[in-house]
Amino acid sequence: MATEQEERGALIVFEGLDRSGKSTQAKRLVEKIINSGRMAVLQAFPDRQSPVGEMIDRYLRGEIDMDEHALHLLFSADRFLKKKMIKQHIAQGVDVVCDRYCYSGVSYSLAKGLPEEWVRVTDQGLPKPDIVLFFQVSPEVAAARGGFGNERLETAELQAKVGKIMPTLRDDAFWKSVNADGTPDAVEKEVFQLYKELDRSQPLEVLEKI
Ligand code: TMP
Ligand code: MG
Repeated sequence: MATEQEERGALIVFEGLDRSGKSTQAKRLVEKIINSGRMAVLQAFPDRQSPVGEMIDRYLRGEIDMDEHALHLLFSADRFLKKKMIKQHIAQGVDVVCDRYCYSGVSYSLAKGLPEEWVRVTDQGLPKPDIVLFFQVSPEVAAARGGFGNERLETAELQAKVGKIMPTLRDDAFWKSVNADGTPDAVEKEVFQLYKELDRSQPLEVLEKI
């Protein structure tokens, strides 16, 4: 007799500029999913604890220098090294919540002037997100949340460029805007509403174009 198929997990990606509240809200979503009786894991990209992520971390903190193409590939490699984990969790019904994904990879590298065609292919083949929660924060609110940190890419100039590029990657089929100007509780509510509307009836797809 066939056993009832369990619902698969979902791949949920948070994207947006620095200071938009992604990390806080990604954490809150995982807690909320678990409290609601499902299983979920949080995955930040870059994963600074992994060997590849550690190299990226050292670059970001200014400890080492690196060719920009090599850095771009390390960010992509960091994600591919999590591909198996993501697929296994999703097959087992566990939601995977990512704090950044390939859209940060493409946006930051384009903002630095790397060649567009090349930048857009290195993440092809990754699991495709079921939803990209695109955090949109107004410059005034972002400024009120304090200045950028001390890391290498946290300059107003680069952020402004990334802010122009990231929306051009938007695919309305699975990107949803989140008004990140709201209070943390209001944003959490908006995110959870979008989460509840996820459709898990189709298998996880492969990312073919970015
Ligand atoms: P974080 O602040 O979310 O830890 O991200 C670290 C920095 O790395 C941030 O400035 C965005 C940047 N970044 C890239 O340039 N490419 C990528 O693929 C990712 C995931 C992040
Ligand atoms: Mg940061």
